[in-house]
Amino acid sequence: MTDERERQQYIDEIQSLREQLLQAQKLSTVGALASSVTHEFNNILTTVINYAKMGLRHKNNETREKAFNKILTAGQRASKITTGMLSYARNGSERREAMDLVDLVEDVLVLVEKDLQIHRVRLQTHVEGRPFAEVNASQIQQVLLNMIINARQAMEGGGRLDIGIRANPETNCAELSIRDSGHGIPGDQLRKIFDQFYTTKTADEAGQGGTGLGLALAREVIESHHGRLRVDSAVGKGTTFTLKFPLVVESASQSSPKIRNSSLTAPASK
Ligand SMILES: Nc1ncnc2c1ncn2[C@@H]1O[C@H](COP(=O)(O)OP(=O)(O)OP(=O)(O)O)[C@@H](O)[C@H]1O
Ligand SMILES: [Mg+2]
Repeated sequence: MTDERERQQYIDEIQSLREQLLQAQKLSTVGALASSVTHEFNNILTTVINYAKMGLRHKNNETREKAFNKILTAGQRASKITTGMLSYARNGSERREAMDLVDLVEDVLVLVEKDLQIHRVRLQTHVEGRPFAEVNASQIQQVLLNMIINARQAMEGGGRLDIGIRANPETNCAELSIRDSGHGIPGDQLRKIFDQFYTTKTADEAGQGGTGLGLALAREVIESHHGRLRVDSAVGKGTTFTLKFPLVVESASQSSPKIRNSSLTAPASK
């Protein structure tokens, strides 16, 4: 075999291992959400069963209509969660499209709301404008999900999570911020958090620890989208991650249809 062929084979192998690692990080996020999603499904089923019983018991139209509406709303929520989970777990393409970031964040929040509620984390979103950016939605969702789960894990006993979405016309940037009131990150750790395999999380009773790939991946994804990634942290007070992407000009964003599955790619700064 020639040196060149051997070299190419190694490159292909590294690429394939890299993809497997990214998928493993994705599945670790799915694992972190599994129990809250199951819990939520249980609640939805309870709603469906109880209103179905009520509809069967009461013969008048008004009560039956109310029962049907409750069942429909519960079913639609369940469908939103399963669709979100399935599209998230799927191996995404590299395609990027102009995306409404408010929609993109909403799709992520559907998956984590229950998890945050169970862990007594109060969620507040702050929207300024309607920023669009050219992104790979699945990759950005993976980045956001990891940051939200990181934030929740840093707030043992509960706390506050503030998610900001804003269009900054001065810098021509779309900005996403994830701020928690958790334990913060000491200076010596802050330098390492974007390193591959750096984690402070040890396996819990379910064998769930951290892969230490979430933020390494975040940095890679943001760089490839020509974006910027920044972290500010104060021990005992909390941490804020800020993601910035080039804004897609409004005229283009308005003319483009609402795209629900999107993606993005350059150097991220700490
Ligand atoms: N919001 C945060 N508050 C406090 N520490 C954080 C926060 N986000 C990240 N960290 C620290 O950075 C480390 C690396 O995070 P990263 O997401 O890369 O990996 P992980 O969360 O440990 O593993 P995985 O993402 O696979 O679950 C974490 O182990 C944690 O020590
Ligand atoms: Mg993580």
